[in-house]
Amino acid sequence: MSKQEESLKRIISHCKEYGFIFQSSEIYDGLSAVYDYGHNGIELKKNLREYWWKAMVQMHENIVGIDAAIFMHPKVWKASGHVDGFNDPMIDNKDSKKRYRADQLLEDRIDKYQRDGKTDKAAKLQNDMDEALNNNDLAMLKTLIEEQEIACPISGTRNWTEVRQFNLMYSTQMGSVADDSDEVYLRPETAQGIFVNFLNVQKTGRMKIPFGIAQTGKAFRNEIIARQFIMRMREFEQMEMQFFVRPGTEMEWFDYWKNYRLKWHLNLGIPAEKYRIHEHSKLAHYANAAVDIEYDFPFGFKEVEGIHSRTDFDLKQHQEFSGKKLQYFDPEINQNYVPYVVETSIGLDRLFLLTMFHALVDEEVTNGEKTDTRTVLRIPAVLAPVKLAVFPLVKKDGLPEKAREIIADLKLDYTCQYEEKDAIGKRYRRQDAIGTPFCITVDYETLEDDSVTLRYRDTMEQKRIKISELRAILAEEISWKKILTFEG
Ligand code: GAP
Repeated sequence: MSKQEESLKRIISHCKEYGFIFQSSEIYDGLSAVYDYGHNGIELKKNLREYWWKAMVQMHENIVGIDAAIFMHPKVWKASGHVDGFNDPMIDNKDSKKRYRADQLLEDRIDKYQRDGKTDKAAKLQNDMDEALNNNDLAMLKTLIEEQEIACPISGTRNWTEVRQFNLMYSTQMGSVADDSDEVYLRPETAQGIFVNFLNVQKTGRMKIPFGIAQTGKAFRNEIIARQFIMRMREFEQMEMQFFVRPGTEMEWFDYWKNYRLKWHLNLGIPAEKYRIHEHSKLAHYANAAVDIEYDFPFGFKEVEGIHSRTDFDLKQHQEFSGKKLQYFDPEINQNYVPYVVETSIGLDRLFLLTMFHALVDEEVTNGEKTDTRTVLRIPAVLAPVKLAVFPLVKKDGLPEKAREIIADLKLDYTCQYEEKDAIGKRYRRQDAIGTPFCITVDYETLEDDSVTLRYRDTMEQKRIKISELRAILAEEISWKKILTFEG
């Protein structure tokens, strides 16, 4: 097994063992590329979502949120271009009967050239592939695969079908009669729910340009090949923000959001070298600038977030298809116009995965003569699924009752966990593995003087403190300020 496969396998098994992520419908052998978040996973995911929401909505007085429905009028997807153009080019291997995305087979080859230091070859292939994709030239994609002598990883043969387009949207029927007019789609992105609500929000919120609308929610794509755990799923969550600006000012805002979003990532405590900005060399027809923020996963740098300057394409399309004006009157210049849009779009599941890859470490710890290893999830305290674990030293003599008293006092403000099973050392290890920043132990001394042992996750330092001091310590350490202290 390669090193990359090993590190992914390790994350998958940790996520399962500690209740972060399970395969969907596991007892029925699972559903491919669909995952369920467990009791710790849901807390971490919720906290990551909150980190985004606070940074985007709470910290910007000109950004507000919405929660649009997953089902939208079918014309939305005609207008947005998804019905006709949201396709992946696919190719099948006739021997293994396995299906691949043609562009991904080529991207893997480009990555390999880059890893081997063959940068000229990588650049040429990237260029040829971009040209084929932009011209929708499926025959050229196949030629490139043949020229590169790319073989199916399963059968090892180069016996390929033609390349065909495959639409990624799921459709279903609305109402009880199944005919074409009732066909609706599961949204493949949350952004369109924002565009069609542009005027509702602008008018009811009395928003003045520049302003933004943010949304988090599920999106669905029938990915041909789903890979790398929660990296590419068929049901996933996006966190998107559309920023509406006066035409001509979009590049200034594009730079603002590019810098702001990168700082947001770095504030998670992740070193800058783990990120890379990928400038799109070939732009989609509606965009005049686009970058991806990529993270250095064990399987290479991959996109986690896109920042796109989408011009007035989407609003104009909806104007045309709906027959309703989607304009803004700008009192500063006394003009009506269709605003331009800068979009930031991040996948919550990919963010979850990079957090796991970055934060989960195995380290040696020495305790007197003994050397041991521990697995610890080093995430910022405010993101941890459990903030405080409370352990009675023994299960008798009033210690459990005292431990529960402490939890009762704190549980409205912090997620707390009570643990009485096993030796204290084992209990620490279990909490380290899910990233709990603080553990306290209630012992016989507690009954005499209301003091407890407070143990810090990262340093493993232990301090004797009074129960009355606990609130202030937690408030200081578990604070959004620790990661939300950046200026735009
Ligand atoms: N509205 C723009 C848009 O949807 P995108 O690049 O297709 O752009 C944005 O998607 C982000 O959504 C990606 O950067 C990625 O983090 C996430 N994403 C896209 N497809 C995904 C999938 N199949 N599984 C998990 N996350 C996905």
